[in-house]
Amino acid sequence: MDFLDLPPMLGARGCVRLPGSKSISNRTLLLAALAEGKTEIRDLLASDDIERMLDALRALGIEWSRDGESDTYRVTGGAGTFPVKHADLFLGNAGTAFRPLTAALALSGGEYRLSGVPRMHERPIGDLVDGLRQVGADVRYAGTEGFPPLHILPAVIRPGGVVRVRGDVSSQFLTALLMALPLTGVETTIEVVGELISKPYISITLELMKRFGVDVRREGWARFVVPGGVRYRSPGTVFVEGDASSASYFLAAGAIGGGPVRVEGVGRDSIQGDVRFAEALSTLGAEIRVGDNWIEAEASRKGRLKAFDLDLNHIPDAAMTLAVAALFTDGPCRLRNIASWRVKETDRIAAMATELRKVGATVEEGADYLCVTPPDELTAAAIDTYDDHRVAMCFSLVSLGGCRVRINDPRCVNKTFPTYFERFLDIAQPVPVVAIDGPSASGKGAVAARVAAALGYHYLDSGSLYRLVALAAIKAGVSFDDERSLAELAAGLPARFEPARVFLADVDVTDAIRSEDCSAGASRVAVMPDVRAALLDRQRDYRRVPGLVAEGRDMGSVVFSDAATKIFLTATAETRAERRYKQLMEKGMAANMESLLKDLQDRDARDAARPVAPLKKLPDAVLLDTTELDIDQAVGFVLDRARS
Ligand code: DC
Repeated sequence: MDFLDLPPMLGARGCVRLPGSKSISNRTLLLAALAEGKTEIRDLLASDDIERMLDALRALGIEWSRDGESDTYRVTGGAGTFPVKHADLFLGNAGTAFRPLTAALALSGGEYRLSGVPRMHERPIGDLVDGLRQVGADVRYAGTEGFPPLHILPAVIRPGGVVRVRGDVSSQFLTALLMALPLTGVETTIEVVGELISKPYISITLELMKRFGVDVRREGWARFVVPGGVRYRSPGTVFVEGDASSASYFLAAGAIGGGPVRVEGVGRDSIQGDVRFAEALSTLGAEIRVGDNWIEAEASRKGRLKAFDLDLNHIPDAAMTLAVAALFTDGPCRLRNIASWRVKETDRIAAMATELRKVGATVEEGADYLCVTPPDELTAAAIDTYDDHRVAMCFSLVSLGGCRVRINDPRCVNKTFPTYFERFLDIAQPVPVVAIDGPSASGKGAVAARVAAALGYHYLDSGSLYRLVALAAIKAGVSFDDERSLAELAAGLPARFEPARVFLADVDVTDAIRSEDCSAGASRVAVMPDVRAALLDRQRDYRRVPGLVAEGRDMGSVVFSDAATKIFLTATAETRAERRYKQLMEKGMAANMESLLKDLQDRDARDAARPVAPLKKLPDAVLLDTTELDIDQAVGFVLDRARS
């Protein structure tokens, strides 16, 4: 799947059970591997980044198993060493695996090579390597100085004393040193140089180390004393909390899409800093409720969300969700102190700015900030995701603005949340579509228009678009054999619809498109794949709150394949011929029953046999045979279906 099209949504409400936290999962796995004894891990996240860590641990000789039924992992710790002393490890783009493993391996007396995907090789690691070298580790750059891949060689470790590490690029360097230094057995002090960013992630590290028996003394956020003479010991069973960063998308969905939306797996007592995303959301006006193991968000009672100006250094990952939430506020929003975004899965400041502009926002991008001004109306767009799971996930929220959105390369969410889009679709309600098709003269046009009026929905008569292309071609002297030019005409069609009237470049062509020439031309252009493709987005744009009734050949199969209601309206050829005969008589026009019937039968056969968008009832469409029904009964039937 190269892309995923999310339809415009009416709103969001419901409950989502969160997958396990990435940060806690990978830290717990490494600590369990370094500990004495067996650790049972429950609710571990199942995702690419965790797979990279599990693969690496296995390659290093750490035994682990997974009980599929209870989804429990059992890790047999190596008591501070890795049995395998020579290994080549590939760690993808998993920073939470790469940094801590680098530190642990550098102190464990083996020879190791660590590499990742190209983007991993662009993410700095020099500050961590500098820290490790201060205790004697032999870590070399196998590619560019300061960046992975790395080559680690056995070395004489000189433990103790003070290790200095920069804290203003990535907090993961400090996390890695903290987790590895107990392996030396000697008390070591870490001094942080520069302002420490993403402090809550350090709290997670310290909390988990404590569970494994190592209590680091923290002096403010600048000095950390790792005790000597201690070893990691398995605490027995560890439960992994739900991922608080992943929670941000659903909480924002509740705030933007009405809600309430509840996430389960994190709550009041969470050790993850990203639960504070909920606080940020409440400054926008969202209603937030927090329980022991859940958080819930609902739209502001006062209407639109409020514009914000926030320092988001403490929640760098969840803050991306706020950049998209900014689209739904009442003014320019400022996201400050987010420089670390530049060294994540992609340059997230640049990526978010580019993609937010695509949906219509005005964005100012700085070295460490973004200023997002929401547009009056969102524009449908194809979002590039830069192999960054969070870009993909947060842009799904655009659909809650009643705007369709395409997510390119949606599988990048596998990094942390493989089932993200399924869960999102569990809580988001698509703008409903009633798709009506059927043979010529079945009355589908009349029924569709009345159903739309009764429901207060928008109405799309897709056949008139093909008729308009034909008329435009006739006017412009374009041949009906020239598919390329016809597709260009279709793409730029200056069509406008008013109730019961159709305009082409502001000329009323309601009757003109019903002429014989246009009907014949329409059926010719309608079998051209390029013409159909050129009209696709235009048709999808009719899907707007509160709903759409769409009539025509491929409404339920191609244009709105996810339509909740699909109707195939038909009647016997004889009945349809009789109805048409009556219509013509009423208009005072000459008509012949036999030739009308033959025309219809020929047309049915042609429509059913054509290779492109043939006439046929879809398996998931409801058959409505109107042979014995009048129009009120037919409309009543469709309304019942649509309402249920
Ligand atoms: O429904 P109508 O007669 O106005 O349609 C005009 C032509 O366009 C007819 O040949 C069927 C074709 N058509 C189509 O191929 N796909 C649609 N969605 C609607 C109409």
